[in-house]
Amino acid sequence: MQNKEVRFSYSVYNDKRLLSTDDQLLIEQALVASSLAYAPYSRFKVGAAIRTDDGQITIGSNQENGAFPIGQCAERVALYRLTHEQGRKPIDTIAIIVDNENQKTPASPCGSCRQILTEYRSFQPQPIRLLLTLASGGDVFEINDVRDLLPFAFDGSFLGQ
Ligand code: THU
Repeated sequence: MQNKEVRFSYSVYNDKRLLSTDDQLLIEQALVASSLAYAPYSRFKVGAAIRTDDGQITIGSNQENGAFPIGQCAERVALYRLTHEQGRKPIDTIAIIVDNENQKTPASPCGSCRQILTEYRSFQPQPIRLLLTLASGGDVFEINDVRDLLPFAFDGSFLGQ
């Protein structure tokens, strides 16, 4: 019998001004995205801003529906928009902001988004970094690679891809 271990570490910045100006700009763009969310049911507005290796930023926000399950998360709106408009491009960092008065710590992507982010990660050799924070400010969580959020992921290799 062998014990195996998966370790996960992340960084917490207690002030976004400790980040690079590019990262601060990305967070600002995620904030803009969150203001475009359609979240009348949850009142949990989320904005995502993706910076690709070429420095361009693509934003998306969550879009809900009265038939709850068919709403779409901000991360996926931004990812699909990026790919649809610009084709597949290496992603450097994604900033994700939550605008909700009850939320006191940054929120991290849901399970479905982790699965989708992990698939995008498989298209590129380098990590996809995440910056998670709140519209009201406070801590910024830095996750070095989306892969860290989904160990033992299912992927196309199980289907012979
Ligand atoms: N949501 C996102 O857009 N991204 C996440 O990472 C977590 C959840 C949205 C889905 C739904 O519109 C609302 O937040 C509450 O779950």
